[in-house]
Amino acid sequence: MQKNLIRIDKITYRYPTDTEDMTEEPEQELPSKDKGSLPPALDRIDLEVEKGQFLCILGSNGSGKSTLARHLNALLVPDEGSVWIGDMDTRDDRYLWEIRAQVGMVFQNPDNQMVASQIEEEVAFGLENIGFPSEDMEQRVKEALASVGLSGLEKENPANLSGGQKQRTAVAGILAMRPACIVLDESTAMLDPKGRREIMNTVLELNRKHGITMICITHFMEEAVHADRVFVMHKGKILLSGTPKEVFCKSDEILEAGLKLPVICQIAEELRQKGMKIPASVITQQQLISCLTGISENENLNTSDS
Ligand SMILES: Nc1ncnc2c1ncn2[C@@H]1O[C@H](COP(=O)(O)OP(=O)(O)O)[C@@H](O)[C@H]1O
Ligand SMILES: [Mg+2]
Repeated sequence: MQKNLIRIDKITYRYPTDTEDMTEEPEQELPSKDKGSLPPALDRIDLEVEKGQFLCILGSNGSGKSTLARHLNALLVPDEGSVWIGDMDTRDDRYLWEIRAQVGMVFQNPDNQMVASQIEEEVAFGLENIGFPSEDMEQRVKEALASVGLSGLEKENPANLSGGQKQRTAVAGILAMRPACIVLDESTAMLDPKGRREIMNTVLELNRKHGITMICITHFMEEAVHADRVFVMHKGKILLSGTPKEVFCKSDEILEAGLKLPVICQIAEELRQKGMKIPASVITQQQLISCLTGISENENLNTSDS
């Protein structure tokens, strides 16, 4: 049996009361002292991630998604319970850099993540930090850029890129490190629809073709329909988990979590209320179209019969 890449075992985490709300990328782990009496940001969370899976974590603002993400690469460590990346316990300082090389993180704001004046330097940044041999660097960077569809832009200034291209550059910088897993924490939130599609296509391709485990945190419900598993967080807990079909048919819980159903599920539900037989398993545009054309073909057959 294949071992899980990530194992989260009943973790609870409370932020110290004297820190400010951290909406941007943290530089380092927060001090673990002065844990306040606030409700926990994470409350006994269990989660296992198999190698090669594409997971989506959904949840309204403040539900604990980023706090959970920060536990995946040891930016935070749990107060109770444990997080394992393979055989490495994130509380063990000896594994810090190995864990961060295995689990890369892309954040929300593309501009905060760019440090260099050329894309190739940007992508090579992590490799340089770990002393990667310079003779192999160019090839690594080229491959990483090709994997995110940015070949040929090596010499471009990141400032001239679109938001979607900037986020793909950030993904390439992580890919160059050959990670097992990439976590995208609302990395599409600041992008226009085209940029969001670019990122989601890149995520799917890296997962399906290159076998990289992908964890996408998002509040765009549509981004979750292609995931292998979906988790819905609410008040620091996992309220729902399962395949997209299993999760999106639980409309009451989705609404309770402060989320909306994907638009296709909403349309399917309205059609059901008007008497059309749309199965609960319909969650993508393609499925709805096939279902509706199937129904109308049947109706045509029925009318021509009569
Ligand atoms: N640095 C911090 N200090 C104190 N509380 C925080 C900090 N960061 C987040 N929180 C609180 O933890 C809870 C979960 O936040 P977060 O993980 O950022 O949620 P999400 O990413 O789902 O919006 C919220 O109540 C939030 O206010
Ligand atoms: Mg967040």
